[in-house]
Amino acid sequence: MVSKRALSIKPSGIREIFEMATVDAINLGLGELDFEPPKEAREAYKEALDQDRNRYGPTKGIDPLRKKVAAKVQRYRGDITHDNIIITASGTQGTMATFQTLFERGDEVLIPEPGFVLYEPDSVLCDAAPVPYPLSYEDRFQPDIEAIKERITPRTRGMVVNSPSNPTGSVLSFESFKALKDIAQDHDLWIISDEVYEDFIYSGKHHSFNEVIERAVVLNSFSKSFAVPGWRIGYLTAPLELVNHISNMQYHLVACPPTPPQFALAKVFDMQGEFVKKLVPTFMRRRKAMVDGLNEIEGFHCHLPEGAFYAFPSFSQGMPSRDMARKLVASGVICAPGTAFGEMGENHLRFSYAASEENISKGLAIVKRVVEGL
Ligand SMILES: Cc1ncc(COP(=O)(O)O)c(C=O)c1O
Repeated sequence: MVSKRALSIKPSGIREIFEMATVDAINLGLGELDFEPPKEAREAYKEALDQDRNRYGPTKGIDPLRKKVAAKVQRYRGDITHDNIIITASGTQGTMATFQTLFERGDEVLIPEPGFVLYEPDSVLCDAAPVPYPLSYEDRFQPDIEAIKERITPRTRGMVVNSPSNPTGSVLSFESFKALKDIAQDHDLWIISDEVYEDFIYSGKHHSFNEVIERAVVLNSFSKSFAVPGWRIGYLTAPLELVNHISNMQYHLVACPPTPPQFALAKVFDMQGEFVKKLVPTFMRRRKAMVDGLNEIEGFHCHLPEGAFYAFPSFSQGMPSRDMARKLVASGVICAPGTAFGEMGENHLRFSYAASEENISKGLAIVKRVVEGL
């Protein structure tokens, strides 16, 4: 009835848990901010509608927004201009357009595991083979450089990097960043760098692959950094030789990104830094509450994540993470099983601290009771 392609992609392991949840479950599974966007952003959206910005726009996005983005990205690489930027209809769609542009049958793409849910299906959907490389608890989820080198073959064409990471919350160290750059250079690989959490860093520093834009596509989004995941607007940076190809692919996926939110975001773009800066202390408090609480649970071990808003504890109860997450949701707490992010996520759970301190504390009390009662 449906194509082999449709059957080749698995349903989300996070969705399953959400579907089991009752309405009053405590949600520590959320992948979005629990804040509304600034009032000015909402006003600017309404204004865009009132100014009749309701038509198709350019496939690469509107120039005023591309120029604002370029000015931000120039902090990493001075010669990037708006010609390197494509506004996308979300990070998700930008990722799809990039994979479809770069990879094809016979190619191998290195992807982090545990890693965000798009990279495997996006590889499969362009007939390329995803080749997972490990991020392990013991290495504080920094990429295992030797393991990456071992996985490189003459067919390897690209390497996906995600820092700060979903689901681990780790931030690439300078050493890892440098090693990955060298690998890409030595083996002539494209780097696809997903930097949607770049503004959510609590310790360490963000190293952006915009620095090596000649061999990278850097994916970003307004979903997290402006709390507008429902607006479906992201952006990517690419070398000039790729921009028209990705834009051509984007045309056939969505024609153009949505017009009204682009005008709104161009208008309020300069507020974005302040908006996130104000949230960071709240997230640092929540992070501490989450990690301290998790480490008090028997058999749980959790590093202090350096970025994003996820904690990724290991647990030693010997139960599959899917069963553990199902047990927890049946008791009223939503979290994501580690295997939703690949097999190497086994024996882990992902907890989001985009939740109030009160809910973190209530939720973890339930987790402790359920886990210690096993
Ligand atoms: C690592 C990562 N990349 C990309 C995305 C996609 O974001 P969006 O499609 O909302 O722009 C997400 C969303 O959760 C994410 O966590």
